[in-house]
Amino acid sequence: MAKHIALAGKGGTGKTTVASLIIKNLVAGNKGRVLAVDADPNATLHEALGMELTCTLSDIVETVKEQKSADDSDREGYIKTKFTEEALIRSDGYDLLVMGPSRQAGCYCFPNAVLKNCIIQLENDYDYMVIDNEAGLEHISRGTIQDVDTMLVISDGSVKGVRAAGRIYELAKSLAFDIGEAYLIITKINDTALLQKEIEATGLELLGIIPYDTQLTEYDLYGKPLLDLPEDSPAVKAVREICDKIFV
Ligand SMILES: Nc1ncnc2c1ncn2[C@@H]1O[C@H](COP(=O)(O)OP(=O)(O)O)[C@@H](O)[C@H]1O
Ligand SMILES: [Mg+2]
Repeated sequence: MAKHIALAGKGGTGKTTVASLIIKNLVAGNKGRVLAVDADPNATLHEALGMELTCTLSDIVETVKEQKSADDSDREGYIKTKFTEEALIRSDGYDLLVMGPSRQAGCYCFPNAVLKNCIIQLENDYDYMVIDNEAGLEHISRGTIQDVDTMLVISDGSVKGVRAAGRIYELAKSLAFDIGEAYLIITKINDTALLQKEIEATGLELLGIIPYDTQLTEYDLYGKPLLDLPEDSPAVKAVREICDKIFV
């Protein structure tokens, strides 16, 4: 079974950044087979990783919806082939799977059930699944992603961000899945002294702080992959310390 590391938090706090740097750490350290999962409908993980996005799970669902004449076994075969050959995007040292936006109208139960099974089948192919979520944890709540070993709730250094982290943690606990351990990570700040009370109120243990990193901002601005950030960049160093704590 792959170890599931799920990132959650308010938009703009740094989830995708931290997810990419965790993937960088796992790949550079040769720690095992890694699957990066972008479960945020507004997918940007591929950009941070420097990959081109060609097929999402939503694309597969949409195409299957159009195939009115095909019977279920044909459709199942089609979905499985598309999943392995296109949606699972291969890269050096890790693979990427992008959920894409879910469109609400109509019932897509059939293709979604087949895709969920495809994901479950991957459990033995990877040692780690690093899952970049949106704040509502939709894919976790729908059961597309099952159980979380390590939940990392990300906040920036604002009171709003930390309070949102607390609410997201409450939401996560209320969903029907197991969380092994959960931590708070605060980004773009050097000192959390003033936030101490707010941090305690979340019920989450503070795992680490990722300082504001101007080189990271520059990479983001020019669309350079975060995997290429130098090992001595402050954010890379901070994520390395975090990884040393969670991957023992
Ligand atoms: N430690 C950091 N230092 C400087 N900028 C950061 C840092 N972490 C994130 N950012 C910037 O903040 C913005 C939002 O980050 P992102 O990871 O996309 O957030 P989220 O995925 O939570 O929406 C991006 O422009 C990113 O470059
Ligand atoms: Mg993001």
